[in-house]
Amino acid sequence: MVKLCFVCLGNICRSPIGEGVMRHLLEEAGLGGAVEVCSAGTAGYHRGELPDARARAAGRRFGVEVHGRARQFQSADFARFDYVLAMDASNYQALSDLSPDLDGRRKLHLLRSFDPESPHGASVPDPYYGDDSDFDEVVEICLAACAPLLEKLRREHQL
Ligand code: 4NP
Repeated sequence: MVKLCFVCLGNICRSPIGEGVMRHLLEEAGLGGAVEVCSAGTAGYHRGELPDARARAAGRRFGVEVHGRARQFQSADFARFDYVLAMDASNYQALSDLSPDLDGRRKLHLLRSFDPESPHGASVPDPYYGDDSDFDEVVEICLAACAPLLEKLRREHQL
């Protein structure tokens, strides 16, 4: 079982959307049982909360279910996951600082690095102070990155 964790700051907007998009693509591909997907935040201030209502609504507009409860990423989580997918450079840096060792840092990637159309080092913009179109853009960016990530998982893990 391959295990993925999407990580943003609060775990109420971008990473639950990334999680929902990836699960949606996996289920469409008949691979729902082969890959475990979850999400977390580098900060803990929304711990226990549902995803933001605007994130859930954006997911619905794309046929993607966005759910779960916010939790904070822990250093020990590096041992639990194969891929830790940071939404932006600041999340990446926080995760890198939290990583116990080189093995953890090898699991860490910027989500958009899997999208061949994305500029080097690109982030998923934080939609928290934005509007519905910013949340739609997050879904679109996640779709563009998760589809090639799924192809890579298929190749490298013989799914
Ligand atoms: P997320 O968005 O990191 O995509 O979940 C945010 C959620 C909450 C805050 C900032 C960004 N906040 O400042 O509370």
